[in-house]
Amino acid sequence: MSIIEANLLSDTVTRPTPEMLEAMMSARVGDDVFGEDPTINALQEKAAKMFGHEAALFCPSGTMTNQIALQIHLQPLEEVICEENAHIYQFETGGYAHNARCSISLVKGVYGKMNSEQVLAAIKPVFDWLPKTSLVSIENSCNKGGGTYYTLEEARSIQGICQMKNLSYHLDGARLFNVLVETGDEAIRWGTTFDTLSICLSKGLGAPVGSLLIGSNEKITQARRFRKVMGGRLGSCHGQSCGPFCDPPRPH
Ligand SMILES: Cc1ncc(COP(=O)(O)O)c(C=O)c1O
Repeated sequence: MSIIEANLLSDTVTRPTPEMLEAMMSARVGDDVFGEDPTINALQEKAAKMFGHEAALFCPSGTMTNQIALQIHLQPLEEVICEENAHIYQFETGGYAHNARCSISLVKGVYGKMNSEQVLAAIKPVFDWLPKTSLVSIENSCNKGGGTYYTLEEARSIQGICQMKNLSYHLDGARLFNVLVETGDEAIRWGTTFDTLSICLSKGLGAPVGSLLIGSNEKITQARRFRKVMGGRLGSCHGQSCGPFCDPPRPH
C-alpha cells in the first residue's frame, strides 16, 4: 500500500486481503441460530483452543462482547473496577449501567494502566451502603492510554488480587494481538489469566466486523442468551423450522 492509499483514521478501517475475500466467498455456511454454521463453529473452537478455554462466542462487535461479559459477571447493585480511560467506561454509551445495571469504580492509572495495589485499594468493603465489587476489567493494549500495554506479569499481579478477593477478571483484548506480536507471548498464557476475554478481528487484522468472547462452557452458555437478547444472534427463525419450540402452522 502506498502512503497515499494508507488510511490512518483508525486500525478499524483495515481491509480484507485477497486471500481473506477468497475464503469468505468459498466459506461453508449454515444457520448459527441452530449452531449449524461450520465456519463460525470452527472459528469459535479455534479461538477457545488458542486461549486455553473451553468455549467462545462470535459476536458482531467488541462493544457487544464487552457488554455481554459485564452481564455474565455482574448482578445489579454490583460493581466493576476499571481504569478511567477504559473503553467499557468511555465509549460504550454507559452500557454498563443500561445492560448490566451495575456501577463502575474508576481507577486513575498511568496511560490507561492501573496496578494491583490500586485495584486492591478500589475494592469496596462488604457493607449494605456500598455496591458489591465483583469484577475487574483491564484493557490490553490500552486504546485511550495511547497504545500502552500491560505485561503478563502486571496482568497476573492483578489476577492474584482477583483470586484472593474472589472477583471475576475480564480482558478487553480488542487489540491483544498487537501485544502478542510486540512481546512474543503465547496466547494461551494470556487466555488462562482471565475468566473471560474479548478479542476483535476488525482492528488491524483486516476483518470487516467480528469479535469473540472466550471463557468456560458455563460462561459462554450464559453469554449466548445475552447475545440473543441484544439481537446479536447470527441467523434467523423461520417460523416453521426452529426446532421443538415453534408449533407447525395449524389449519384454521
Ligand atoms: C479497547 C476497545 N475495546 C472495545 C472496542 C469496541 O469494538 P467495536 O468497535 O467492534 O464495538 C474498541 C473499539 O475501538 C476498543 O478500542
